[in-house]
Amino acid sequence: PSTNTESWGSRVGLILAMAGNAVGLGNFLRFPVQAVQNGGGAFIIPYLICFLLMGVPLLWIEWSMGRFGGKHGHHSTPFILDTMDRRSFWKYIGVFGIFTNIAVASYYCYLESWTMSYVFHSVAGTFAGMDQGQVASFFEKYVDVGVSTTGIPYEAVIFFLLCLILNTWILSKGLSGGVEKAAKIGMPLLILFGVFLAYKGITLQAGKEGALFGGSVGLNFLWTPQFDSLANPKVWLAAAGQIFFTLSVGMGTIQCYASYVSKKDDIALNAMSAGWMNEFVEVVLGSAILIPISVGYLGIDRVIELTASGGLGLGFRTMPFLFSQWGTFIGAFAGVAFFGLLFFAGITSSLAMGTPWMGFMQDEFKWTREKAALSFGIIVLILGLPTVLFFNEGVFDEYDYWAGTVSLVVFALAETILFAWVFGMTKGWKEINDGADLKVPSFYKFVIKWITPFLLIFVFVGSLIGPAGGDWGAAFAGLGNGEGWNLDNGSIIAQLMNKGIKQQIAATTDSALVE
Ligand code: PHE
Ligand code: NA
Repeated sequence: PSTNTESWGSRVGLILAMAGNAVGLGNFLRFPVQAVQNGGGAFIIPYLICFLLMGVPLLWIEWSMGRFGGKHGHHSTPFILDTMDRRSFWKYIGVFGIFTNIAVASYYCYLESWTMSYVFHSVAGTFAGMDQGQVASFFEKYVDVGVSTTGIPYEAVIFFLLCLILNTWILSKGLSGGVEKAAKIGMPLLILFGVFLAYKGITLQAGKEGALFGGSVGLNFLWTPQFDSLANPKVWLAAAGQIFFTLSVGMGTIQCYASYVSKKDDIALNAMSAGWMNEFVEVVLGSAILIPISVGYLGIDRVIELTASGGLGLGFRTMPFLFSQWGTFIGAFAGVAFFGLLFFAGITSSLAMGTPWMGFMQDEFKWTREKAALSFGIIVLILGLPTVLFFNEGVFDEYDYWAGTVSLVVFALAETILFAWVFGMTKGWKEINDGADLKVPSFYKFVIKWITPFLLIFVFVGSLIGPAGGDWGAAFAGLGNGEGWNLDNGSIIAQLMNKGIKQQIAATTDSALVE
């Protein structure tokens, strides 16, 4: 049995930590970009359906798996899965739930360190008086996109180290003394900054403060539903991918956090509190900041163009300049609010990525939490350095693709089959509702058994063999007329065959250098 005696301090602390785990850079940078790239209002309907039919069921599955494993003294997915079915196969599947986190943390913490640095530069007034070109080249120098001769982005490396030291230190303070405290401080500040920026975004008016269009243009683009997209599998895949990433499902972090709740704690309602808090932050705050402000200044077409190869540029090359349109003081404050919000969102998520590894080492090898935390920091440093040093070579995107997208779907599919079909829905349903103040509607028993696995298979197969441009009709026609199946460069098979990687890098570099 485990000597690991970690636990949560309070129900509020648990929910804030779980919400902090879910609410991350994904809510403010990834969501708006996915929405823009997939047609704004065309994205929202599949997104909400995926939330209700895949996200919510997976939250219940993962929370109840975690609490179940915790009762048996296990706090990481290899042994949590092992308690649910003795065939050793599942134990190995569970390893995903540790390593995916480490791999995601390796690029996520780098991004998190940018937000730290940008808070510092907003306070220091670095961006005041810069024009758009200067802010953009500040970013390029920062990540060293072919600017210096040494090829080492010194400042980026220093902030990356600082960020890892901070994460390691908080993790070494344990669950209630470190992670929970960070969430109790970070989440309220994040909401405060978010509300301020959302207010600025929504009230941005055409013709004022240098804005050409006003915030409502971006909001309308996002919130005018377009039903024709329902027939486009590509949009569905993007929506499902965003739901996974944003809720942190398919990762192993939720199971780990939930393994530290006590036996009779309500999980049905706690899971919904944390999950819906993430959705509030994403669809209300997340959609009222980046898009309304950038579209208000630049127009929809330009923003679509800027996000074509990912959203990082928009946040770090463009936003500081737009904020400075609001005057020196409010501009600097908005910079602190925006990057500070990103920092709190980021750190409460990267801490979550550290806990499965820590739980595993504490449970199985009896490591102290200091040792476990330190080893996590060192591994992330080593694995993260390639994203720092070869950022421009597309390493960052490779990590995000394999660890942050593909492996989430694989793991979620496996655990859903284990939960609903091997462990079985009779026991599973009892686990979900045990200790619940409000019982889960029984409709969800059917959803978890049939709909969720079916959708997951659809997402998995779709991302495995997705056709070029998401055009399934043309791909099937190609099968008939002998042209063969035209794979999308982004599909898993195409990526495995290495096709398209070069093109992808070329696209990233080009668009990083436009402007
Ligand atoms: N859900 C987080 C976000 O939206 C990312 C995350 C993934 C956090 C996996 C923890 C584990 O940014
Ligand atoms: Na999120």
